[in-house]
Amino acid sequence: MLEEYNARTPKSAALWKRAVKLFPGGVSHNIRTFGMPGCGSYPPYISHGQDGHIWDVDGNEYIDWWMTHYSLILGHNDPNVKEAIRDQIEAGHHFGTPTEPQVRYGERLKEAIPFLEKMRFTATGGESTMYAVRLARLFTKRKLVGKSLGGWHGGNDALTYHMSYPYSDEPFYNGVSFDYNNRESFDQMLKQYGKDLAAVIIEPVIGAGGGIPPEGNILSYMREETESRDILLIFDEIITGFRLRYGTAGDGVFGVTPDLVTLGKAAAGGMPLGVYGGREDVMTLAAPGAQGGRWVGGGTFSSHPLTMVAGLAVLDRLREKRDQYDRLNRMGDSFRKRLNDMLQEMNAPLIGTGYGSINFVSCLTSAPSKPLRTPGQLGALFDHKNQDLFQGYLMQEGIFGYHGLGALSFTHSDEDIERTLQGISNAVMNMQQR
Ligand SMILES: Cc1ncc(COP(=O)(O)O)c(C=O)c1O
Repeated sequence: MLEEYNARTPKSAALWKRAVKLFPGGVSHNIRTFGMPGCGSYPPYISHGQDGHIWDVDGNEYIDWWMTHYSLILGHNDPNVKEAIRDQIEAGHHFGTPTEPQVRYGERLKEAIPFLEKMRFTATGGESTMYAVRLARLFTKRKLVGKSLGGWHGGNDALTYHMSYPYSDEPFYNGVSFDYNNRESFDQMLKQYGKDLAAVIIEPVIGAGGGIPPEGNILSYMREETESRDILLIFDEIITGFRLRYGTAGDGVFGVTPDLVTLGKAAAGGMPLGVYGGREDVMTLAAPGAQGGRWVGGGTFSSHPLTMVAGLAVLDRLREKRDQYDRLNRMGDSFRKRLNDMLQEMNAPLIGTGYGSINFVSCLTSAPSKPLRTPGQLGALFDHKNQDLFQGYLMQEGIFGYHGLGALSFTHSDEDIERTLQGISNAVMNMQQR
């Protein structure tokens, strides 16, 4: 399969051959194989990008839905972000000291997120969720953390468990889980472990677990139930922050304020960033010498000047565009509606899920008998083998997505949407003819 793709990507093939000799599985981030080895192929090696499109080393163009792990909400090569980075490089790219851009970026985030009383910067999202959990453990003097099935919060030991069905892996360290949108599952976790829980961490819209938005008042229920047990509620907004609106989604879209929040991705438009912050009484435990504190923080590359200036440039642009989020989110919503109508017409066991500009397409082992509301329900029907084939055929169609698909940017066009729907239709037909 993928003969056309393989024939037009000889340079990527040669690079892949060298890469598998160097890196386990050929990659340094497990998902960057993009499922292509499952199709007997290899990922394209990307050389450049512009707006919503990228090109591989063989010169092939792709509509980019992956957008650097959903980070580039302004598209590739935004001129203001590029200029800010270039200016900082002229002055020196990192000093390992406090800098003015760090203070300005922190002030800008605080202005956009009213409950962000204090914050810290890291180089990755996974560090920021790790430190948020550590702070919760120090603050509550409890050990356990609860997360949703299918929730991905970065590669740290605290939270890397129960990401995919059957969710039977042993947590590395003091972790339990529940199924998002399933009150019984959440209640059961609280009943069994509530007294020992330091924190519950949740993405308001579950990302890697299938782009699943909150149902009904589940977030406010989780807020009340955690608060009454002195459990800290952490919203991981590394995908949703500055993606669904200018600011965070938990409070701004769904009306619920957490104790702590984590940010990354869109907030610095493709530069390495993690943020953890929120309640001052909790964050204070991170201060050097804080009573009751322990080591929280670190990182040679934390608050990197290139990230800080890029983040400022991104937030400048997003603040200007704050009225355009509605249009971007509607574009995603209408895409998913058309996609699901098309899949139904094709009688294909695939489903489009997501919220606003966040989009997932999942292959299922069979058509669901009822709507898939929770990551656990979606995970139980998820067809890993066919998913790789689907993604491979999409790549052949010139559509670069993963984990289903990805996220729209302000630079994607109506034509990109039409071409994507056509590409998905072709990919599904290829699968049906196998
Ligand atoms: C919701 C969420 N949290 C945390 C992370 C980890 O961020 P990073 O890859 O920057 O460590 C990710 C990355 O995909 C994510 O989607």
